[in-house]
Amino acid sequence: MAMNSSFRKKLLWLHTWSGLTLGLVVVFLALTGAGFVLKPQLEDLVYRDLHVVPKCEAPLALDKLAAAAKAAHPQAKLQGIEVTTDDSASVAVMFTDKDYVYLNPCNAQVLGVQNQYGGFFGVMDGLHRFRFFTDLKLGRTLAGWVNTVFLLLLIGGGVALWWPRSRQALKAALKFNARLPGSARTLSLHKFVGLYSALVLIVITVTGLPIGFEPVKNLIYSATGYVPPEKPKSKPTAQAAKRLPMEVFWQKTKARVPDIEWASLRYPAKPEDAYGAEILEKGRPHELAKSYHYMDAFSGETLRLEHYAADQQIGRKIYLYCIAIHAGMVGGLPYQLLLLLASLGVGVQAYSGFSPYLRRKFRKSVNPKLVLKLVKKTVEADAICSFELVDPKGKSLPPFSAGAHIDVSVGDGLVRQYSLCNDPKETHRYVIGVLRHAASRGGSRAMHDELKVGDLLEVSAPKNHFPLDDSRQRYLLLAGGIGVTPILCMAERLAEVGADFTLHYCTRSVERTAFSDRIKRSSFARRVSFHYSDGPAEQLLDIPALLDRPAPDTHLYLCGPSAFMDLVMATAQQKGWPEAQLHREYFSAELYSSENDVAFDVKLARSGKIIHVAREKTVTAALAEAGIDIATSCAQGVCGTCLTRVLEGEVEHRDRFLTAQERAGNGLFTPCCSRARSPLLVLDL
Ligand code: FES
Repeated sequence: MAMNSSFRKKLLWLHTWSGLTLGLVVVFLALTGAGFVLKPQLEDLVYRDLHVVPKCEAPLALDKLAAAAKAAHPQAKLQGIEVTTDDSASVAVMFTDKDYVYLNPCNAQVLGVQNQYGGFFGVMDGLHRFRFFTDLKLGRTLAGWVNTVFLLLLIGGGVALWWPRSRQALKAALKFNARLPGSARTLSLHKFVGLYSALVLIVITVTGLPIGFEPVKNLIYSATGYVPPEKPKSKPTAQAAKRLPMEVFWQKTKARVPDIEWASLRYPAKPEDAYGAEILEKGRPHELAKSYHYMDAFSGETLRLEHYAADQQIGRKIYLYCIAIHAGMVGGLPYQLLLLLASLGVGVQAYSGFSPYLRRKFRKSVNPKLVLKLVKKTVEADAICSFELVDPKGKSLPPFSAGAHIDVSVGDGLVRQYSLCNDPKETHRYVIGVLRHAASRGGSRAMHDELKVGDLLEVSAPKNHFPLDDSRQRYLLLAGGIGVTPILCMAERLAEVGADFTLHYCTRSVERTAFSDRIKRSSFARRVSFHYSDGPAEQLLDIPALLDRPAPDTHLYLCGPSAFMDLVMATAQQKGWPEAQLHREYFSAELYSSENDVAFDVKLARSGKIIHVAREKTVTAALAEAGIDIATSCAQGVCGTCLTRVLEGEVEHRDRFLTAQERAGNGLFTPCCSRARSPLLVLDL
């Protein structure tokens, strides 16, 4: 169902602003929640000194332990004792100030003191409940409100905005596309992580509602007819009646509940109160499925015994299940890990949601232009010059990696991309090699004919669409003509890290071979073979023989003219080279005749705006006229900077960036050069 565009706009606004404001609180809740979700497994390991004791077969009476604890912690009143049937576990005596004194049950030795909200897990728990600035009840309500807004605006709104409009769009929306550039990739990550964590987060937030809101809890109780029972009271039989020892209560509790595993035994707070025990029995469905035992503190009579399975009413069970699901107390480790992942996913969501917004806001400052001075212009071969650019004040330049290029403003609004071919270690200069194309559209002609030493040139910071992964075992570098520029930079880097590589450099003739002196003088000269098209047959590169046996540890990096690259790629694919081992960068796309181009419309999915793309215009130009800027670099479909997601319609691909598989998927296109076969393309913009 198509969403009305003005509603979509409002929803996007709400989603963005609730994310930028309350989203921070949600991240806080998620990360602090993640901090204690594995507490049951880790607590005994982290606080081994407090929790674990040597096997104790004859524990002391609980009252003796309580007296030892009181002596160690005289400033507060005794509140209860936590005890287990595990003979290697310590006993914890609780005090009214929430401090727990841990003791060895065999000899009453005090092992240490820790507050309920102390230690790593306790601090996380306290933070999660906003204990640092308000009381627990208000903290719970606050968390409840954040939960609700999160549920409605962030999860609900996000899913509604994500909802794909076609099967094709659905396929694209289910995957994270790492090949998208910049913000588009971050947005793809936002949608991908959001989609998979939304399911878990919806469960966590819905089950958090009865914890945060008393009325929701009361609604569950009243809908199921559950009325919380009053706590039973003790009946002192005589004026100066003496309370029975805690040990009596413990022994009686064990006798009445044979499958006991853990119990929290509470002292009566007032004279008329009874002893009360919260009990976890073996085989319980979750950690809040507690049974209860109340005993008259004077007569020792059992006032009430309530087994979770048999006696708890459905309304109470629903409420306890909500808390248990919210806190990861059901389903064991797999569910806890799922919660942990979903909580960490909220952090990823925050990053991927904020960063495109911040990038948009501060685009100018994060992608500054550099003004550099041309200090050397060298003829390297027929029609090829190298240009050495430095900072006019001698400052260091932004670092770059092998395969990087810079955008060079060559005048009259023309911007061209040139690969850096100097050693990536160097920060004092950028060196580019430029071939003067016979059919130059103005860029290489201006560089060769008009640029003089001393001129200032505006360039971008280095960008890398052809990165070299220098952690592989072996490399085969293939360069054709001016395609040697990024490959030369890669050879410098591989030589630097001591990698095993060979470089084949194919040119038309010796005269058209740039940088040959530099290569012959380099440390990697013996790894390079030159191949000249006009030379003897035996030195020509035998591409089928070279690519005959793809080795699993060899990666091929390729750059050169389209015909050369197409031949190498086709041969490699035919010889069975896996796509993941083939890395290439085209310099230019194929030339398409615009004779049969037709006009079409593009629709921007987020705003619903429809923009007409005239026969003679590119999509980026039509969008720019409508005030929508898409970042471009090569403007020819080779760099992928403008890559945009297509939600509906059929694309006519004219780029050299997308793989055959991506083209067939029809979910991405390059608006700088590609067009539509259908009358309308819906774009994810
Ligand atoms: Fe380079 Fe479109 S700008 S592919």
